[in-house]
Amino acid sequence: MPIRAWFPTYLYREPLQKSGLDRLNAELVDECHRLREFDAAGRKWCKTNYPGGYTSYASMNQLHRFSSTFADLEKKLARHVRTFARALELDLRGSELHVSDLWVNIMPPTANHSLHLHPLSCISGTYYVQTPPGCPGLKFEDPRLDRFMAAPPKLPTARPANRTHVTFPAAAGYIVLFESWLRHEVPPNRVDAERISISFNYDWS
Ligand code: NI
Repeated sequence: MPIRAWFPTYLYREPLQKSGLDRLNAELVDECHRLREFDAAGRKWCKTNYPGGYTSYASMNQLHRFSSTFADLEKKLARHVRTFARALELDLRGSELHVSDLWVNIMPPTANHSLHLHPLSCISGTYYVQTPPGCPGLKFEDPRLDRFMAAPPKLPTARPANRTHVTFPAAAGYIVLFESWLRHEVPPNRVDAERISISFNYDWS
């Protein structure tokens, strides 16, 4: 083949584990709701910074240190993160990846999370706990978009890998991983039920 892809952007999506996801997610839903109840400072922060929704990002963002449920979840996440890092062929210079932040996001109808990246981290991701049918996925942007200048748009029939955006469906029990510099967003939740996820950052230094 005279044409091959170079400089690829890798994304990872897998079920967290082979079985027992329903029970695990039911426990996590309860834990997330208890956390929202408990976290008055977080609820206050969300009133101005996360309209309509709840995230513990600004108040309780090291949940793996806070409860054994989240600590157990982190061990399961870490296995996937290590697999992803190996595929990326990162030279960690003797360091290991370690979790720095782990937080809960509850998105009722209308809540959204606008375009952002995760500065200072290496690998970031989300685990989906509750995903009502029709709830928004995770939308990624081609990291070269700001360099395209006068480049023509892509054909509507372009295959997914050649498009400027890709949306990964949010599906309970799945983990999605990406390099932390990759911009992403969650479009508004248009269904009448809560979308619940747990997000995390892994650092390498
Ligand atoms: Ni994010």
